[in-house]
Amino acid sequence: MSKRTVLTGITTTGTPHLGNYVGAIKPCIDASHEVGVQSYYFLADYHGLVKNRNPDRMRQSTLEIAATWLALGLDTDTAVFYRQSDVPEILELTWILTCSTAKGLMNRAHAYKAVVQDNTEAGEDPDFAVNMGLFSYPVLMAADILMFNSTHVPVGKDQVQHLEMARDIAQRFNHHYGEHFVLPEAVIDEHVAMLPGQDGRKMSKSYNNTIPLWLPEKQLRKAIMKIVTNSLEPGESKDPDASVLFKIYAAFANQAQRETMRQAYRGGIAWGDAKQQTFELINQELVQGRERYEALIGEPGRIEQTLIAGAEKARAYATPFLARIRDAVGIRKLV
Ligand code: TRP
Repeated sequence: MSKRTVLTGITTTGTPHLGNYVGAIKPCIDASHEVGVQSYYFLADYHGLVKNRNPDRMRQSTLEIAATWLALGLDTDTAVFYRQSDVPEILELTWILTCSTAKGLMNRAHAYKAVVQDNTEAGEDPDFAVNMGLFSYPVLMAADILMFNSTHVPVGKDQVQHLEMARDIAQRFNHHYGEHFVLPEAVIDEHVAMLPGQDGRKMSKSYNNTIPLWLPEKQLRKAIMKIVTNSLEPGESKDPDASVLFKIYAAFANQAQRETMRQAYRGGIAWGDAKQQTFELINQELVQGRERYEALIGEPGRIEQTLIAGAEKARAYATPFLARIRDAVGIRKLV
């Protein structure tokens, strides 16, 4: 039986929020404790660079995200945890793959198309403010994935097209140069993929509706109190399935807690009480991690060491594999 190789990247823009935690960090950390799976988790700082032109914010985001994964108990003995830019082989592979990638395929990428559409609607040049990083983003992502022969890639729904592109790129390369790359599969957990934000849209930096993961307790409570609800009074029955607050609660609750809360909604719980209980549930889940996070953030040297050790492990795989790919395309010594 072939081994499962699970890989996913976290773009280093911004501060980790509850949506990241529920949708990616928690399931990946849980998976890192499973046996028989080789997992690769990395900080996609070159992807972050596409949008983030602020050097201090780049560094800060990398620090916060790395500290978050470590505080929450990622097992770095079993999982390979690294920073993309510490593995230069990935960029070499990116160029090799770029030369096997149809420009037309990139034209169809949702993220690029969305910008072009906004520009067109605003009467701008279609490519206004589009850099080549945005345009080639899916090739870099394909290199991330194909470099480690990943079989399973946990991602949000918005990344599914990128996975299909990675498969296309791999197939095209394999067709021309022989079977070198494994075709990866997207893994989407329907249950957790979309945590809504305070306004009910997907919790996302781009909507400015996020609740940062490591807010101090008081501020976390405040942020939860701001989640939008309707104007039903205490005592009036509420529909849990139409409630953003309930969705957020449910993402942190076990089956029994979910059921109890569902009943409470039907029975007319006051929004204030439902919010208080949501706060308590989330806070309880994060309280220990928060302490470890605070400690780690104060010791960036330790995090740096962990990342360097992770990159060494990643390169132990990437270096010989890239040598094989270079040879396959004819980048070879003359004698
Ligand atoms: N593009 C992904 C995102 O924005 C992050 C990412 C970069 C990634 N490289 C990857 C995810 C490789 C999975 C595999 O969420």
